Amino acid sequence: MMHFAAIARVPGDPILGLMEAYARDGNPAKFDLGVGVFKDAQGLTPIPAAVKQAEQRLVERQATKSYVGGHGDAAFGRLVSELVLGSDSTLLKSQRAGATQTPGGTGALRLAAEFIAHCLPGRGIWLSDPTWPIHETIFAGAGLKVSHYPYVGADNRLNVDAMLAALEQAPEGDVVLLHACCHNPTGFDLGRDDWRAVLDIVKRRNLLPLIDFAYQGFGDGLEEDAWAVRLFAAELPELLITSSCSKNFGLYRERTGALLVCSHDADKLQDVRSQLAFIARNLWSTPPDHGAAVVAEILGDPALKALWIEEVNAMRQRIAELRVGLVKALEPHGLAGRFAHIAAQRGMFSYTGLNPEQVRLLRERHSVYMVGTGRANIAGADAKRLEQLAAAVADVCR
Ligand code: LMR
Repeated sequence: MMHFAAIARVPGDPILGLMEAYARDGNPAKFDLGVGVFKDAQGLTPIPAAVKQAEQRLVERQATKSYVGGHGDAAFGRLVSELVLGSDSTLLKSQRAGATQTPGGTGALRLAAEFIAHCLPGRGIWLSDPTWPIHETIFAGAGLKVSHYPYVGADNRLNVDAMLAALEQAPEGDVVLLHACCHNPTGFDLGRDDWRAVLDIVKRRNLLPLIDFAYQGFGDGLEEDAWAVRLFAAELPELLITSSCSKNFGLYRERTGALLVCSHDADKLQDVRSQLAFIARNLWSTPPDHGAAVVAEILGDPALKALWIEEVNAMRQRIAELRVGLVKALEPHGLAGRFAHIAAQRGMFSYTGLNPEQVRLLRERHSVYMVGTGRANIAGADAKRLEQLAAAVADVCR
């Protein structure tokens, strides 16, 4: 008997697969607008100078590669919690919030999913439609009932009324996943009044928010992007937050992230954290260290932190300029109005409004790679070739 005979092949990952297809394309004029990584003016995904410096210090100083504990490095946990919740957070001062270090933001989501499945049985989860495809598979894979609230419709506009109406129907106790900023895949973010309206429903329906915070610093600023997270943390007795250091620290492959839990009660927090350590032990045992050690080194040193903040600000500014530049480059083609939303969206991604057929044509005719749903990673565009990109878009829109 062949043990593997009945195993079928699944399609490759729709986002990571684009990296390989792009690498294989021999056209020197190609564009990589696929996977969500930042690129600089040279088309490289740089290691920030603050990260390089921190790494050098660690090489000199680190004396052991022994395991970190189940929750990871305590300094990393404290510093990331301050970054997310604010350095003056009363929750942190009263030991009512804590972080568990995870392999990237995806690891934090996975840990959250297992926690909900094991410790809050029967709770469903509500995801935005659309959302990052891995949200769908992580929570379904953990056995949770996945439901959706409308977010961006066929007209490629944010539909807050429809979102709120759906959340009004969510069963009491269900979990609602919200994107803190830089919504992936659409780039459309909630305004402050929208967030307050969601908070109101969360309170009335007794829902548990899980806020995915993967792009802190890429929207309006490190502090500004945390506004909704901190509002929810201040107003609600309990909250889950997943934080990623992949984008803002440029640590992608180092897999650095955290699951933060906020609780009304310091003692209850320890109960929850004991469960997280138990679940994590069965998922990955203890988290990888290097990226978290780098983050702790940066956030724990005022000079290095200031350098890093400058670098995050520069990345954000570059993306904002690319957004405006692309819309401008579309002007001569009479398409600036149709694509004006690209300049207004936030973060790396834009739901362009291009359909799958147009995305296919862009790739086949012009070597422009983006996700089939029409999601473009604007941070992957080349500022010097925006006219070329606009001409390609115009070609497939004819
Ligand atoms: C993306 O959406 O492109 C990023 O979050 C990278 C990933 O892992 O999918």
